[in-house]
Amino acid sequence: MVDGSLSAKISSAPSDPIFGIVEAFRADPRPEKINLAAGVYMEENGVTPILASVREAERRLLANSTTKLYKPIGGDPALVKLMRALIFREPGAPFGTLPPIATSGRVEVLHTPGGTGAVRLAVELVARLRPEAQIWVSDPTWPNHPQIADAVGVRHRSHPWTTANVRELDMGALLDAIAAAAPGDAFIFHGACHNPTGIDPTAAQWGEIANAVAARGVLPILDFAYQGLGDGLVEDAASLRAFLATGCEVLVAASASKNFALYDERVGALAIVAADPAAAAAILTHAKVAIRAAWSNPPGHGGEIVAEILGDDSLRAQWEGEVTAMRERINGNRRAFVDALAQAGAADFSHLLSGRGMFSLLGLSDAQLAQLRDEQAIYLVARGRINFAGLSAVKIPIVAKAVAALLR
Ligand SMILES: Cc1ncc(COP(=O)(O)O)c(C=O)c1O
Repeated sequence: MVDGSLSAKISSAPSDPIFGIVEAFRADPRPEKINLAAGVYMEENGVTPILASVREAERRLLANSTTKLYKPIGGDPALVKLMRALIFREPGAPFGTLPPIATSGRVEVLHTPGGTGAVRLAVELVARLRPEAQIWVSDPTWPNHPQIADAVGVRHRSHPWTTANVRELDMGALLDAIAAAAPGDAFIFHGACHNPTGIDPTAAQWGEIANAVAARGVLPILDFAYQGLGDGLVEDAASLRAFLATGCEVLVAASASKNFALYDERVGALAIVAADPAAAAAILTHAKVAIRAAWSNPPGHGGEIVAEILGDDSLRAQWEGEVTAMRERINGNRRAFVDALAQAGAADFSHLLSGRGMFSLLGLSDAQLAQLRDEQAIYLVARGRINFAGLSAVKIPIVAKAVAALLR
């Protein structure tokens, strides 16, 4: 081997904490295996379907598309306009009627490859525009947050998200972290459906957090990967509205992966809320340079699907119904699982009922997770992150009994 070659000093990188488990699940030959690890919506039969609204949009695109030309660097104007309408929609307002902030010139929206692309772009902007800034992430958080900061070369720190019993938000610790941050630092918040805890601030707590953020002069990056899967498409943006009410800058990383079930199409958006229109226009130029050097132009098909759905009243209504159905199934499973745990004689898990979104933590150790996997073929993520969408009427009592047995 030539000294200095790529292979000369090679050792393997660790597998992804979530996709690695999903791969192990796929390789498991046991037919009774249960996948509660993947961060995707599943139906009762364990399948992640293509939404009917998506199928109809694709049918139309197939019939009417005429070109596969590059999209603009920041995405198709039709799509970004509609994503702006989705992200900034106000309670009670018809789709497309925007609040003054969204049309003030302070807001720019770009199409990114998924929510990951949006978070990556947000962190790139921090690195370019505030090179001395640190990024604060909650502990625990989606493992890709610190990984993206590392990849971009931005220092990161963490602050506790919950109290030690992992049952409620630790507001005190969060406010302390904001006070300890340097002005110009950035905080990544989960806009709704905190991953992995499912523990979201209330609207009043978001107000308190936003005031602290604005007073300290730190930048909120709102990771909005689960819009619609908490309380509703508009309700879930209570976090964003709290920040907007203070007049501070915000970066919103939205994703169409979960709420449109368009996981492999890579559709997301970064909304930049700058201090004033001139700053918004200038930040946009930096965002475009960063994009050009990364993915250059966003992928076309998925964005066209989203634009087709959001731009058509009846298709959008159908899609909103599908989002509601996903959310209600997740919440139904959440309730049924807590009941089943109680019936199986487990300790009190009623705090899970106030969780939002697909995930909560059962608070299991690595050894307990290995036991569940080896003895019962049940797969969860670190600390016992469970995906309620992976449960079904048949699986709920099986998993509840297995967890109760572990904890006895
Ligand atoms: C918290 C969080 N942010 C962002 C994402 C990004 O999702 P995607 O890039 O698939 O849109 C995910 C996906 O699992 C997530 O859980």
